Amino acid sequence: MDPNTSGLAQRLAEAGQSHLLQFWKELGPEEQADLTLDLQGMDFKEINGFFNNAMKTSSSSKQEKMDARMEPVPREVLGSVTRDRDCLKDWETVGLHCISQSKVAVLLLAGGQGTRLGVSYPKGMYDVGLPSHKTLFQIQAERILKLQQLAEQKHKTKCCIPWYIMASGRTMESTKDFFSRHSYFGLDKTNVVFFQQGMLPAMDYNGKIILESKGKLSMAPDGNGGLYRALGTQGIIDDMQRRELEHIHVYCVDNILVKVADPAFVGFCVQKGADCGAKVVEKTNPTEAVGVVCKVDGRYQVVEYSEITLATAEKRSADGRLMFNAGNVANHFFSFSFLRDIVQKHEPQLQHHVAQKKIPYVDAQGQLIKPDKPNGIKMEKFVFDIFQFAKTFVVYEVLREDEFSPLKNADTQGGKDTPTTARHALMSLHHRWVLNAGGHFIDENGRRVPAIPSLKDGTDLPIKCEISPLVSYGGEGLEEMVKGREFHPTLMMDEHGVHELVKNGV
Ligand code: UD1
Repeated sequence: MDPNTSGLAQRLAEAGQSHLLQFWKELGPEEQADLTLDLQGMDFKEINGFFNNAMKTSSSSKQEKMDARMEPVPREVLGSVTRDRDCLKDWETVGLHCISQSKVAVLLLAGGQGTRLGVSYPKGMYDVGLPSHKTLFQIQAERILKLQQLAEQKHKTKCCIPWYIMASGRTMESTKDFFSRHSYFGLDKTNVVFFQQGMLPAMDYNGKIILESKGKLSMAPDGNGGLYRALGTQGIIDDMQRRELEHIHVYCVDNILVKVADPAFVGFCVQKGADCGAKVVEKTNPTEAVGVVCKVDGRYQVVEYSEITLATAEKRSADGRLMFNAGNVANHFFSFSFLRDIVQKHEPQLQHHVAQKKIPYVDAQGQLIKPDKPNGIKMEKFVFDIFQFAKTFVVYEVLREDEFSPLKNADTQGGKDTPTTARHALMSLHHRWVLNAGGHFIDENGRRVPAIPSLKDGTDLPIKCEISPLVSYGGEGLEEMVKGREFHPTLMMDEHGVHELVKNGV
């Protein structure tokens, strides 16, 4: 359809986006139809408004002013697995009870593009090279299954933990297909609910939408805070209401150690009467790429690593620790009523954050240019931007080595947060579980392997040991299988038993 007669050209002109039709005459009929469809579905006034607001709030002088307004999390809202050890059992009991009543759901944010990891498929499908070769999705699914079983055994009642999975236009089909090919990893299909977040166009610094080819806009998911709009538009809040859910654990796909629906975290938040909670680990390195939970103007929020100045990131308290050390591990607790209020009332107030990016574009001559420095912005909402609306906000501090090892970068980039570091973190946790349950490891000469792997020869590699989530959710229930026994690595424990792969020549 001709954009002039359909009114589209007029709409674009009013929004200052007429350049999107500059190659119209060069496009074939199919490309014209696709472009028309894309453009017709967009609200340019709204997008221009997002751009103007996002640019206003992201200027560097604002950033400096924000630094001055930041305060650390006060002790009274903090629960800690180390400092409040005595309460842990209680919290776990409360959380497991809620789970047994089918009041707890988990919500996975999986709409990211995995750009840094450099894979073309969804990150949850990644195999970090564990002995079992399980993917992140499978590990998470099995943890849900196991937790359901633990709650059912303890409370002698059937229960379910619904799993909501947010994907984007780019990841939805492959994610759904992966789950269906793997029979939902043993979960009941009706309790795995997929939904799709929105997309926004990339824009140059003058607010012009960028064309990635003559007939195609450069589009990206609208950030993990796109969750709140999607919960409304995709009918997910209604689904949660129908299921009478009360507590939602929201988490990111990339943390191999994530304790989905962690009963202790849920129980802690419930016991404190919180509508909103965040799990954190102690940030020890000022330049670590984690956001920090803190107060700004008396309200809780996460200040992202990209939004804090180095001077503030390096500030230390009297005890020598970083002043802003509540490192966000992207694990959040929301009460259902809080989440519903956000979706129904507050979502439009959430501001987009600006990420400056190198965005490939076609120039006025129709040439594709791949810039070597940032030439425009992507706009994203962040999942934690709703903390400011919480009436009772709590923070729950856990141990990094037990609960946080995200997969962000490819092994070829070396260093932090790679498939190798994720694999090692999981095996080292499972190694400790075996030791704590009274088991031991021996080397090829029959000698006991020391509990702390030697740094000699640079071989500080963890013992190869993997325990299926179907056997143990958090290290529980292993004594019977390992107490007093000696194992040769590679040790694998799964629902079929205990296997020593090397000894058996596998
Ligand atoms: C995120 C946190 C950061 C935290 C860090 C810990 C946010 C905004 N930032 O940072 O504070 O310290 O994890 O690892 O949460 N996603 C979507 N849709 C999108 C974009 C992302 O669902 O449009 C999902 C991703 O699939 C992933 C998660 O959000 O599961 C985090 O995204 P990522 O871009 O990796 O966040 P980080 O910058 O690492």
